[in-house]
Amino acid sequence: MFITLTSPLDMHLHLRDGAMLQTVAPLSAETFAGAIVMPNLVPPIETEEALLSYKERILKASNSETFTPYMTLFFKPTYTKEFLESLKDELTAIKLYPAGITTNSEGGLSGFDVEELRPTLTAMSELNIPLCVHGETNGFVMDREAEFSSIYEMLASNFPKLKIIMEHITTKESVALLDKFENLYATITLHHLLITLDDVAGGMLQPHLFCKPIAKRPEDRAALLKVALEGHPKVMFGSDSAPHPQHAKEACGCAAGVFTAPIALQVLTELFMKHSSVQKLQAFVSDNAQKIYTNITVPKTTITLDERAFVVPDKYGEVVPMYAGETLKYSIVI
Ligand code: DOR
Ligand code: ZN
Repeated sequence: MFITLTSPLDMHLHLRDGAMLQTVAPLSAETFAGAIVMPNLVPPIETEEALLSYKERILKASNSETFTPYMTLFFKPTYTKEFLESLKDELTAIKLYPAGITTNSEGGLSGFDVEELRPTLTAMSELNIPLCVHGETNGFVMDREAEFSSIYEMLASNFPKLKIIMEHITTKESVALLDKFENLYATITLHHLLITLDDVAGGMLQPHLFCKPIAKRPEDRAALLKVALEGHPKVMFGSDSAPHPQHAKEACGCAAGVFTAPIALQVLTELFMKHSSVQKLQAFVSDNAQKIYTNITVPKTTITLDERAFVVPDKYGEVVPMYAGETLKYSIVI
């Protein structure tokens, strides 16, 4: 049984820089036609020069004729319309992090004052630049995303022309929000479709499944799975593949992030097949994203998967992937 996907896209990806970029960029570029690249480097991507030179390094490292990095800036309320307009051809989206909420987000927002945000968010609306949001408060870890709902509502209602992407949603409350506001969309990761908090911490602690937002309850996973499998037009695949070296994961003070880029399409195929929904996979991994992000040009690529065992490597460079050493049901046809 062969499955063919056209121009698969990863709408939330961490590629890092330096040696790590050299390891991970080719792995995404091998299967994906393009990806929204997160700006949480040290220092974050906040200037035209940083954005353009990072894009160059990605293109070089990805070793691909087709792979398109869609670049993002780290949100600052001081970005002016003139600045954003001058970058429009190179800038796909802007990523907003609450301060200190996750890896390299210290320079994020420490408050959500609508008037302070208005000039930048209005300019983004006018220029059709989507706002990607890491939606967590600093409350109790299981409630952080649900507590952020009121901020999403405030943003969505004050900026009705702004496309707001709720990144890596993990709760049924976030799924419900999608139908409440026309301008709210979401990415869903592979791991949040598969695991709950039990898989992370219910038995022996699994550092390679630890991420932000943390995986939640079975009913939350069921709500995410439902909208993914039905190809809900407001949800897109975004892996949030977030590589950290093994020593930073298997440590006292484990870094947050699950590395899934090289296994994502194989596992998604298995999951959608298992639920008799493979006809919706194309929508989830590409078509929906292209309808939501009307400011991207997507290279036409095809990728075929075959029902043939694939043993996941124990490591890619210094990084341990999800399902390391396990056998997956589908392989990429090379
Ligand atoms: O688990 C995560 N890792 N969540 C994020 O939001 C950031 C990411 C990273 O950059 O490592
Ligand atoms: Zn992320």
